[in-house]
Amino acid sequence: MSAVPAVVLVGPMGVGKSTVGQLLAERLGVGYRDTDDDIVTEQGRTIAEIFVDEGEPAFRALEKAAVRRALAEHDGVLALGGGAVLDADTRALLAGQRVVYLSMDVEEAVKRTGLNAARPLLAVNPRKQWRELMEARRHLYEEVAAAVVATDGRTPEEVTQAALDAL
Ligand code: S3P
Repeated sequence: MSAVPAVVLVGPMGVGKSTVGQLLAERLGVGYRDTDDDIVTEQGRTIAEIFVDEGEPAFRALEKAAVRRALAEHDGVLALGGGAVLDADTRALLAGQRVVYLSMDVEEAVKRTGLNAARPLLAVNPRKQWRELMEARRHLYEEVAAAVVATDGRTPEEVTQAALDAL
């Protein structure tokens, strides 16, 4: 099967990709898919368990394959894990797609996610880890994005409308 997603959402964890993605899918009358969910279903383990059992590089390899598959199969709204853009091949696959980057500033990120054991990349010192993550990734999100939608101080409904307006 070969399909093209209607919209691909990228952005940091906790920014609201799944909530906004599902609202966007409803508004567009299409399906919603999330590559983190695909990996959990396929592996029968949580993301945190995969990180602990096998480490981040092994998770990234699973993620790269999941993103490639979802991009080829899905024609609705697709949300990617926050670190999917770290992979250069994944970024190349996103060229020419309708990619929306949902952004938020560091303080908003700390407020929304806090100390979060279920998110292995934030389990130690969230503010410092967030600052480093954002610095390392912001330009990658911007590189693949056709549109950037700021989420700070906005409800999921407002973000969804802004994404629709930007497309
Ligand atoms: C990650 C984000 C998570 C998940 C994993 C790693 C990251 O996805 O893929 O914990 O590197 O930013 P969400 O952005 O859906 O939380």
